[in-house]
Amino acid sequence: MNKKYIAPSLLSADFLRLGQEIKDVEKAGADILHLDIMDGHFVPNMTFGPFIVKQIKSTASIPLDVHLMIDEPQKWIGTYIDAGADFLTIHFETDPHLNRAVNEIRKYGKKAGVSINPSTHTMLLEYVLEYVNLVLVMSVNPGFGGQKFIENSFKKIEWLNNYREKHQLDFLIEVDGGVNENNIKPLSDAGVDIFVAGSAIFSKSDYGEVIKKMRENL
Ligand code: DX5
Ligand code: ZN
Repeated sequence: MNKKYIAPSLLSADFLRLGQEIKDVEKAGADILHLDIMDGHFVPNMTFGPFIVKQIKSTASIPLDVHLMIDEPQKWIGTYIDAGADFLTIHFETDPHLNRAVNEIRKYGKKAGVSINPSTHTMLLEYVLEYVNLVLVMSVNPGFGGQKFIENSFKKIEWLNNYREKHQLDFLIEVDGGVNENNIKPLSDAGVDIFVAGSAIFSKSDYGEVIKKMRENL
């Protein structure tokens, strides 16, 4: 079995105690930290920018997975890489020049990801799949934590997994939104490599216990 990664989304963390929250999820067995950047334009919510990413980088000991939910992401690639992104993901819906953006991220030596909203067909990614390191399937409408998983995301994951096998590509498949210890097993079977979970982890008092359960269910 390929390695599977658990990526807590800090969106559901307590930001007044962010440093401690990061230490706690790392100790609990997180593999990657997922950071949601929202601009109030592409999605109806705002979070934080490069300044906070840089501070997170200075304390984190696991890779940072930066999920840009912003318009005109290409203007910000260099900034988020300087801030410490190890994976940098932009949305298909925000950039008509995905090929250029993905190549730019990879030129910095970082992992390039593309993400699609729930209503966007995976087929639209066909001509960029050979260049990306990661495809992030949004399984809720982006903008908020704690929403219900959209079931037809399974179809997209299966499509990507089949395409990957058929064309012998090596991009990772990541799922984000409504992931919990109950649906992690079928998602893993469908081909997911990276599981983002916000509320399912941070709403519990013992992060180690949830992450352990998730891993046992994989
Ligand atoms: C939503 C974000 C997610 C969010 C997931 O737009 O991209 O990363 O934090 O939260 P949960 O796991 O609570 O659905
Ligand atoms: Zn996210």
